[in-house]
Amino acid sequence: MNTHYLEKIQHVIQTEIVSKQPNLLYDPIVYSLSQGGKRIRPLLTLMGCEMFDGDVEKALYPAVGVEVFHNFTLLHDDIMDRAPVRRGQPTVYKKWNETTAILSGDAMFALAYSFMVRTDSSLVQRVIQTFNRMAIGVCEGQLYDINFETQDHVTIPEYIEMIRLKTSVLLGGALEIGGIIGGADDQDLEHLCAFGENIGLAFQLQDDWLDVYSEVEKFGKVHGGDIAVNKKTFLYLKALELANDEQSKQLKHYFSSTSFDVKEKFDAVLSIYNELNIGKHTKSEMQKYQDLAMTALSKISVNSQSKEPLRNLAETLLTRQN
Ligand code: IPE
Ligand code: IPE
Ligand code: MG
Ligand code: MG
Ligand code: MG
Repeated sequence: MNTHYLEKIQHVIQTEIVSKQPNLLYDPIVYSLSQGGKRIRPLLTLMGCEMFDGDVEKALYPAVGVEVFHNFTLLHDDIMDRAPVRRGQPTVYKKWNETTAILSGDAMFALAYSFMVRTDSSLVQRVIQTFNRMAIGVCEGQLYDINFETQDHVTIPEYIEMIRLKTSVLLGGALEIGGIIGGADDQDLEHLCAFGENIGLAFQLQDDWLDVYSEVEKFGKVHGGDIAVNKKTFLYLKALELANDEQSKQLKHYFSSTSFDVKEKFDAVLSIYNELNIGKHTKSEMQKYQDLAMTALSKISVNSQSKEPLRNLAETLLTRQN
C-alpha cells in the first residue's frame, strides 16, 4: 500500500507543483516539495480513507494539501529555530533568504487550500473546518515552543501540550480528513483522531530523541540543534527532574545562553543525559503514547485487517532514523 500511494502522492506533487514567475517565490516551493521527506501525513490521509472503504482517489488531493501545509510549516519553523539544514540540504531561508522563506511559505499555505477543496463538494466544509483547526493548533504550539526556550520553568505536562499542538494535531487532522472522505461516523473519527494524536506525541518525542541520539549521516538535520538553541525538549525536562544538584546546575547553566561553543555545550549536556539514562526514559515515554494510540485504534469499528496499514506505519515511526 505504501509504495503505491506514495507514487500517487509524488505524481501529483511533480505534475501540479511547478515553478512559475516570479522564480524567487516558486523555486523554494518546488525545492521543498521535491526534497522527499517521509510523506507520513498524506499517507495517513489515504490510509484513514481506505480504512473505511472510501474511494482513495477522492482523498488524494486533500492528502497532497496536507503535505503542502506541512512543508509550509517547515519553511517558517526553520527560521524560528535558526536551523540551517533539513533533509540533508540547506533550508530555504539559508539558501535564499528569510523574506523568501516567509513569502513562499505563505503561498504554500494558500496552495494547500486549493488542494484541500478538491474533493466531493458535500465534504468540503468539514474538510476545511478540520484543516483550519489543525492550522491554528500548529500556530499555538509553535508559539509555546519558542516561548519555552526562554521560560525558566516548563513542566512535562506543559511540554506534552505544546507538542500535541505543534505536531500531533496535524497527524490527527490528516487522518481525520481521510476518515471524513472515507465516510467514517463521528465516533470512529474521534478514535481515529485519538490514534493520530497519540502517535503524533510519540513521533515528536522520537524527533527530540533523534536530535541527540541519531546517526549523523541519516538524520539530515543539524545534530544537537535543539540543545544549541535551548529547546525545552522532553530529554531536557526529564533530565532536570532526575538531576542531582550539580547536574541541575550544569544543565541550567548551559541552557541559559546560546553563546556557548556548540560542541562543548552538546558534549556536556549529552554526558548528563547519559548519566541519567535519558535516552531510555524518552523511549519509554514514547511507548506510553504508542500504547494509547493502539487502544484508540482498537476501538474503531472496522475489522482488524483494515487497521493493518496504520498499525504498521505507527510501528515504523517508533524506530525511524530521520
Ligand atoms: C518534521 O516532520 C517536523 C516534525 C513535526 C518533527 P517530518 O519528520 O515528518 O519531516 P519530513 O517531511 O519527513 O522531512
Ligand atoms: C516541528 O518541530 C513542528 C513544526 C514544524 C510545526 P521541530 O522544530 O522539532 O521540527 P524539526 O526538528 O525542525 O523538523
Ligand atoms: Mg520547531
Ligand atoms: Mg525545527
Ligand atoms: Mg525537532
